[in-house]
Amino acid sequence: MSNLKFASRIDTMHDTAIYMRGLFDNMTDPNMKSFGGGAPARSVLPMPYMEKIASEVLSDSGRGFEAFQYSAPFGLYDLREAVCDHLLKPTGIDAKPENIQIVSGGLETMNLVCQLFIDPGDVILTESPTFIHVTDTFKMFQAEVVGCECDENGIIPEDVEKKIKQYNAKMVYTVPTFGNPTGRTLSVDRRKKLAELGSKYNVVILEDDPYRDVRYSGEVLPAIRSFDKTGNTIMACSFSKIFAPGSRLGYAVADEDIIYALRDVKIATNSQPPGISEVLTAEFFHRGYYDENMKKMCATYKAGRDAMMETMDKFFPKGFKRTTPDGGYYVWVEFPKNVDAAAVKDRAEKEYKFSFLAGGDWYPNSKAEDHANMARFNFTTQPVEVIKEGIEIIGKIACEMAAE
Ligand SMILES: Cc1ncc(COP(=O)(O)O)c(C=O)c1O
Repeated sequence: MSNLKFASRIDTMHDTAIYMRGLFDNMTDPNMKSFGGGAPARSVLPMPYMEKIASEVLSDSGRGFEAFQYSAPFGLYDLREAVCDHLLKPTGIDAKPENIQIVSGGLETMNLVCQLFIDPGDVILTESPTFIHVTDTFKMFQAEVVGCECDENGIIPEDVEKKIKQYNAKMVYTVPTFGNPTGRTLSVDRRKKLAELGSKYNVVILEDDPYRDVRYSGEVLPAIRSFDKTGNTIMACSFSKIFAPGSRLGYAVADEDIIYALRDVKIATNSQPPGISEVLTAEFFHRGYYDENMKKMCATYKAGRDAMMETMDKFFPKGFKRTTPDGGYYVWVEFPKNVDAAAVKDRAEKEYKFSFLAGGDWYPNSKAEDHANMARFNFTTQPVEVIKEGIEIIGKIACEMAAE
């Protein structure tokens, strides 16, 4: 055991780091049937396409050299083109490859953006509850994370504006579509308003939108960035939820000056995105497999969502509440006040090997005990039969607790 002293940022991220460690342990435990992490279903991972693509593309006569050699820090040009054509046009964003930085996993955009803009003590506004993994990143940069009020239409711009002024905030972070953890979607007028607030107060609006294409009902909404007239909105997206988390790829969308600066930060961090992944992912799009596989994903996940919501309604304690997401990966649950979600989870894990996430820690400015009855359930990882069995068991444990 060494006697070395860690940097002070390791202290500021201490609590969220413990939570994240547990989340990954739980998600990767082969003996656990988890509704905890945000993993895609095995049945829709792109193995059927990738075997053929890999054998053709990774050869010397194919794109092997591009895949295995050092490459452009911005990311592979044709992958950036694929992002513009296949992923951004449909959300009203008319971007060029020069507006795209490919990153190593969706979360890296948050890391690079913090390196570019955040000094210790800067305030970042978020939804409340917000995505705890990103809180972990923000804390690593020693930012102060302040939650804003939300309702069923997402973050409330009036509260955001009040807090921008109150805290002299540097950045607003939001997951506008099928949010994590709530599954809620920000309405169009609020998207427009957030873009305007970014311009009016010269703050960064960081729009983290990895679930946008995973829609089961309702209409496609324009991105916040589509309303941005001053370059204050930066979009962060990931290939993890729409292709494969193991690709460790994502992309940032911003004005060219910001992309150039992000490129410098990327070089200082890890030089370039993973070339092997980039080549394989680009080919998946060029060969037209994305739309086909996304249809399969949406059909699979819709069935999972419907089975989860129906089983919750049948077996969860009287008076519980849940969201009805139009897409994405999660249902957010409010158990009756006397049900401690962490205690339900402990019993479900120990006695039945089913798991989910207790939600108290996802509120940036309150103690976990104040929201001990909140929980996040993922419906994309497990097959429908496992969802039905597990949610019934978890419901019965929660009912016993509610009756005590
Ligand atoms: C809102 C949000 N942003 C970013 C990410 C991270 O994506 P990646 O796994 O590509 O780093 C996730 C993953 O769960 C997420 O839910």
